[in-house]
Amino acid sequence: MNTQGMNDIDSAVQDQATEANKYRMNISLNVLKHLGINLYSNVAAVLTETVANGWDADAEKVEINLNQESDQIEISDDGCGMTVDDINKRFLMIGHDRRKAGYTTTPEFTRPVMGRKGLGKLSLFSIARKIRIYTVKDGQKNGFILDVDKIEATLKSGEDNNYYPEEIPAEDVVISKGTLIVLSDLVKSRMTSPKVLKKRLARRFTVISDNLNFMVTVNGDKVQVSDRDYSSKIEYLWTLGDQNQLQSFIDSCSNKKRHKAWDGIVDPQQQYIAEGWIGTVETSGQLKDNEIGNINGVVLMARGRVVHEDVLGEFNDGRLFTKYVIGEINADFLDLDDEQDIATSSRQSLIEDDPRYQQLKAYIQQRLNEIGRVWHDFRNEDGGKQAEENIGAIKEWLSELRPAPRKAARKLVGHIQGLPIDNESDRKELFKHGIIAFEKMRMKEQLDKLDTLTTFDAEQFKMIFDEVDELEAGYYHEIVTERLSIIKQLEKLKDDNALEVEMQKHIFQHLWLLDPSWERATSSERMEESLKKEFGQVTSLTEDEAKGRLDIRYQKVSGANVIIELKRQERSVSASELYNQGSKYHAGWTKCLQDSGQPSPYVEVIFLVGNHPSERRPGETDQLLSNINGRWFTYRRLIEAAIQCYSDYLKESEKVNRVHKILKKL
Ligand SMILES: Nc1ncnc2c1ncn2[C@@H]1O[C@H](COP(=O)(O)OP(=O)(O)OP(=O)(O)O)[C@@H](O)[C@H]1O
Ligand SMILES: [Mg+2]
Repeated sequence: MNTQGMNDIDSAVQDQATEANKYRMNISLNVLKHLGINLYSNVAAVLTETVANGWDADAEKVEINLNQESDQIEISDDGCGMTVDDINKRFLMIGHDRRKAGYTTTPEFTRPVMGRKGLGKLSLFSIARKIRIYTVKDGQKNGFILDVDKIEATLKSGEDNNYYPEEIPAEDVVISKGTLIVLSDLVKSRMTSPKVLKKRLARRFTVISDNLNFMVTVNGDKVQVSDRDYSSKIEYLWTLGDQNQLQSFIDSCSNKKRHKAWDGIVDPQQQYIAEGWIGTVETSGQLKDNEIGNINGVVLMARGRVVHEDVLGEFNDGRLFTKYVIGEINADFLDLDDEQDIATSSRQSLIEDDPRYQQLKAYIQQRLNEIGRVWHDFRNEDGGKQAEENIGAIKEWLSELRPAPRKAARKLVGHIQGLPIDNESDRKELFKHGIIAFEKMRMKEQLDKLDTLTTFDAEQFKMIFDEVDELEAGYYHEIVTERLSIIKQLEKLKDDNALEVEMQKHIFQHLWLLDPSWERATSSERMEESLKKEFGQVTSLTEDEAKGRLDIRYQKVSGANVIIELKRQERSVSASELYNQGSKYHAGWTKCLQDSGQPSPYVEVIFLVGNHPSERRPGETDQLLSNINGRWFTYRRLIEAAIQCYSDYLKESEKVNRVHKILKKL
């Protein structure tokens, strides 16, 4: 459509043309400001008014074009259009109530009329400073310009609140049917993307449908029910009112697990009925639409268009399930021809104390309470089933339990599956811990049962021993897996110096780094301490022995005493050097232990070195060290040995036990 050139109408010529005052708008600056310029915040809300006017004009098609290049928005419809009289008495009239004037349904399609206040067109002023309207009716072509700057200037200078819009000559009105509105001089940042607008409009009308012969396009694309694109996310669905009307929506909720229908009767005497649906989704994150923001909420509609963007927010309900709620409720009784108008001027919400709105809110609150009562149970039950079906390890675990504990275990699985966690690997961790805790409790129950036995029951004991073993193996498997992953990180340190530094830093706290078969030390670990400090009273110590600072020493549960000596990576050592130092420590600590009442203590010395010690003959180090129960490793070799040993353990243990087999599969 060519709208070019209409912009450039010579205003001097226009001034003359409007002397005839073909068009007149009577409006105060205040009304313009409060019911127009400052009222709406987004393009979708404004265009909702224009689309609604198209519906009221019996249009079958409303086309919206967002022209980012020219920064213009064009809206055209193929409706009834307007005569000069319609323009002056309706379009340019502020607050003309068409329903009071008897127009409650449209002449051609007998649609229930959406318009009511006679204010909708003012919304255009909140996104554009210049509005050109072209319209055709009864063969008459009419056009005029509403220019906010000029309106403001005229109203400020005149006293009668009259503004005379510039006329557009008939030959410039290039449409043949309906009405075209061109918005230009757009208020900053009011332009939006076609995709976003489509989604928003889809959510603001239920009448946009082929069934009702009413189509809306945005830049050529048809706005469709599927643009709402939330139905597939619905997990539980509650419908209100006539099921048949809702059938296609119900069918589109392809992933719903449960559905319940309510009659939607809000007031049986007055025949007030709420129609529509409330649903909950599986994860609250599904309601975060990256294009239009959070869609968590319940939209209220009347006569197929939005009247309240989110009634859920009005309840200030902090319960968890409300974060999963989405819904759409059509309540035509909010907009009855012979009752008061309860929409606020901006039509984003409703007049709070209207009894119909109060009644509807109370009804919705009751429904939400009902949903809240069952939601957790549904989630637990279905979550349990879902986890059992989809997670092989869970299925296996449950199947191996006897019926009574299985029932309880299912409940636990359901709880974990139902927890509002968006990260599935976190949930797996919870399953692991849940299974261990469950098994532990089961074992405790068995032990409690043993307490009550009056006679020895060999079967019972055997069962409990087996279960204890299983559980321990499960735990240990978890521990070893974690250790192995740490050691593997160390192994990745390609620089020997860095490896030595890390080992020195952590080895004292984590003696298992040395060797997995190393038993846990008793709490006798000492680091960098001379023997004199602890055993100062032992007089047989030579001065050298007393002074020597042992890097690490500790006693194993079995009674063996271990000394660990750590050498710097770059330090080269000889076999005899290690032996001399080791002998001193060995002799010193042996004396100390004898003095404290252990006649023949077993003391071993381990050296961690950067490189192979220098030797006068092959095998010298091992030979010398064997005299003092000594051994030596390089840091790298120690790590390799640990990896080997832990991996072997894991490989072996995998075959044997029920609980950790499950944990591992998770
Ligand atoms: N696209 C259109 N085609 C034909 N007539 C229109 C069109 N847009 C507006 N009108 C006429 O202008 C009038 C004023 O529109 P406006 O949107 O301001 O008020 P309304 O629709 O009557 O009520 P509401 O304020 O509730 O929208 C309409 O009642 C209608 O007669
Ligand atoms: Mg309107």
